[in-house]
Amino acid sequence: MLGADSKVRIFDTTLRDGEQTPGVSITPEQKVQIAIKLDELGIDAIEVGFPVVSHGETIAIKSITKQGLKAEICGLARAIKSDLDAAINCDLTYVHTFIATSDIHMQFKLKMDRQQVLEKAVWAVEYAKKHGVEVEFSAEDATRSDRAFLNQVFMAVANVGVDRLDIPDTVGYATPQYIEQLVKDVKAYTRLPISMHCHDDFGLAVANSLSGINAGADCAHVTINGLGERAGNASLEEFVMALQCLYGRKHNVKTELLYETSRFVSNTMGIIVQPNKAIIGENAFGHESGIHTHGIINNPLTYEPISPDLVGRKRWMQAGKHAGAHGIKAMLEGFGIGPTEKELYEIVEKQKNLADKGKSITTAELLSIAGEVMRNNKFEEKFKLYDFHIVTGMNIIPTAVVRLNTDGKDFIASEIGVGPVDAALKAIQKIAGEMANIKIREYRLDSITGGSDALAEVSVKVEDKNGNVVSARKAGEDVVVASVQAMMDAINKVMLQKVLYTKY
Ligand code: KIV
Ligand code: ZN
Repeated sequence: MLGADSKVRIFDTTLRDGEQTPGVSITPEQKVQIAIKLDELGIDAIEVGFPVVSHGETIAIKSITKQGLKAEICGLARAIKSDLDAAINCDLTYVHTFIATSDIHMQFKLKMDRQQVLEKAVWAVEYAKKHGVEVEFSAEDATRSDRAFLNQVFMAVANVGVDRLDIPDTVGYATPQYIEQLVKDVKAYTRLPISMHCHDDFGLAVANSLSGINAGADCAHVTINGLGERAGNASLEEFVMALQCLYGRKHNVKTELLYETSRFVSNTMGIIVQPNKAIIGENAFGHESGIHTHGIINNPLTYEPISPDLVGRKRWMQAGKHAGAHGIKAMLEGFGIGPTEKELYEIVEKQKNLADKGKSITTAELLSIAGEVMRNNKFEEKFKLYDFHIVTGMNIIPTAVVRLNTDGKDFIASEIGVGPVDAALKAIQKIAGEMANIKIREYRLDSITGGSDALAEVSVKVEDKNGNVVSARKAGEDVVVASVQAMMDAINKVMLQKVLYTKY
């Protein structure tokens, strides 16, 4: 029996259950790239797909098995010959096979009785074992299955040599208390290693997975960003960090790569992460309110349960109507600016007045207010956007003309692009490029509200020639305007950092 100091095994199913997220479909090459990232992250086992579903899936899986990854590579198969053959023919040495054991699934989906399901499960495990592969067996919808029948199925597959059992909470219907009893029961009955596979329909996937681990399971099926069918699966980032920080359990995940991996998967699969998501959401280490920023400045643990570095992140503070003098002072100090108390008070008030008008305040705007109050034009934005003009539509090449002013001189540039945003950002870079020497590392567009007049939030990350990364965000109803403003803010931040750190 594994003890509480043994490592918890992390089984990632981003490339299988995660790819079943409505609207997600990725190419074989993208699957390989994600598998490599997961391996670098230190995942123990990666479920790379469902081999029988398509030719592309087979190609991707075969290609992943050839990468020589450290992680065990697994494929999913129903308890039917064609699925198992497809998995075995992909050169997989580890197969995850499943059949539903709940009455509702047996009656309405499988149209089988209990005896038929039992026989199929046993047959599938025997067939896979005969082909020399490691086998994990899932009783789909286990948490809504009759307990005696579930135990009977698990025992029957144990008797024909299954290597591991998985308990899926397929529709996220279980409570942590129910999971605890279930796992203890199955463990006592079969004495086999147990995995948890929890869905998030009631927001309990992580809590249920942790409950299973505390009751004796040694592995959890999780996905990056909590992707998966419907409300998704247990989020890998949340599960791993709770396991480590709240329960003191060990695992092989390199937590400092969590954020980077989350971003990579979000960009590749095209599914945005909600800003307030734990660990990996944009706001997870962001602070605006005066009370919080004051606490953070004195000791970050006042309002952060863990250090952002632990998960590869940086803390940030936001100006705005909730911001207080301590937070604004710390933000200005980040640029080497030290206003007097009177000046600081004036800066705080001015930025609050702007925020009251519903404006989100960029760092460059805050610095510009500081410059005005402190009568120091070095804090002024280096580049001022005067105007821009975009031509776009069908059968024409999107073109942007941008006019910026720097050091009192006007500069105009025009550029074409794949779309209006691309054209506008290229035109800005054409003018600012030489002085700022930056390249765009990341551009993200999230819709905050619904409808065609939705508020969009643009985030850009730019990198200067020394590898310093600066990020800026801007919300607005016009996607192109918000993108241009975010880009201008990022460039001005880079320039202000240069000026203020060297001359102020
Ligand atoms: O949620 C589920 O039941 C599954 C099975 C295939 C394990 O994904
Ligand atoms: Zn699932």
